[in-house]
Amino acid sequence: MKNLLSIEQLSRAEMEDIFRVAALQKQNRGKNTEFPLRGQTWGLIFSKPSTRTRVSFEVGVRELGGGTIFLNPNDIQLGRGELIKDTARVLARMVHGAIIRTFAQADIEEFAEFSGMPTINALTDEEHPCQILADIFTFQEKRGSIAGKVVTFVGDGASNTARSWMFAAGKLDFELRLASPPKYQPDAESLKRAGENIVCQANLQEAARGADVLYTDIWVSMGQEGEEARREAELGPYWINQELVKLAKPEALVMHCLPAHRGQEIDDATLEANAQTIFDQSENRLHVQKAVLLAVSA
Ligand code: CP
Ligand code: NVA
Repeated sequence: MKNLLSIEQLSRAEMEDIFRVAALQKQNRGKNTEFPLRGQTWGLIFSKPSTRTRVSFEVGVRELGGGTIFLNPNDIQLGRGELIKDTARVLARMVHGAIIRTFAQADIEEFAEFSGMPTINALTDEEHPCQILADIFTFQEKRGSIAGKVVTFVGDGASNTARSWMFAAGKLDFELRLASPPKYQPDAESLKRAGENIVCQANLQEAARGADVLYTDIWVSMGQEGEEARREAELGPYWINQELVKLAKPEALVMHCLPAHRGQEIDDATLEANAQTIFDQSENRLHVQKAVLLAVSA
């Protein structure tokens, strides 16, 4: 596996390998005697803010023996119009891999192609593969195989996190219910590519009934700030609260990729009641991404 650009491009076997290595990384944290990224420097190019992704990658690379260099696009020539394909070829002469958070998926694909070095998607407008790998890992730690389970995604069903869940559903054989107003459901072409395990359901209560996971993400993703008022009005009813949780299975997990906007996609009481799971998701970003780093640099 050379890159991690999307869940769509990942095979089931590659995902299972990542989960297996992540479990070992978690178990052996602080006890490793081998440092596979020793002597390497990895570049992080982030065009959007980040807490979890940035810190987990910076710590993860260091724990594997490497170093990182954080590049804010506004501080490098990329921000003044230098082409992605030129930036990619320059960086490939100096660093060993790139971890990129940006807007267009096409930009990260272009970077990977022209750099020829391991490239990891740290979130684009289309996908957030590292997040969803950590989320599935977290579910499986607590409840066993996700195969045959029902995951209900509440909110913006066309968001990057929802889309990554969508491509995981077919590969790992679980049902994904996207509980969103029709306008916030993925386009028909993406749904077709994702396969048959996706149900778009505008009725939130129906979508939550009997679910094994209730999952949500913010209503206004990074880059959509201009649409805030409209999104809050249109996504208003699509949130996780105590009433909704009662419709899911008694052992259902409530999950959130964070950051959370309490009172919007989830209420404070529900988030706090499920804080253990939600912050486990955050912690597992570290272990899962260490497995990703090992896979792409092998
Ligand atoms: N969930 C997530 O990716 O968080 P950050 O934006 O803080 O990295
Ligand atoms: N959908 C959110 C995820 C944040 C981690 C966004 O893109 O802002």
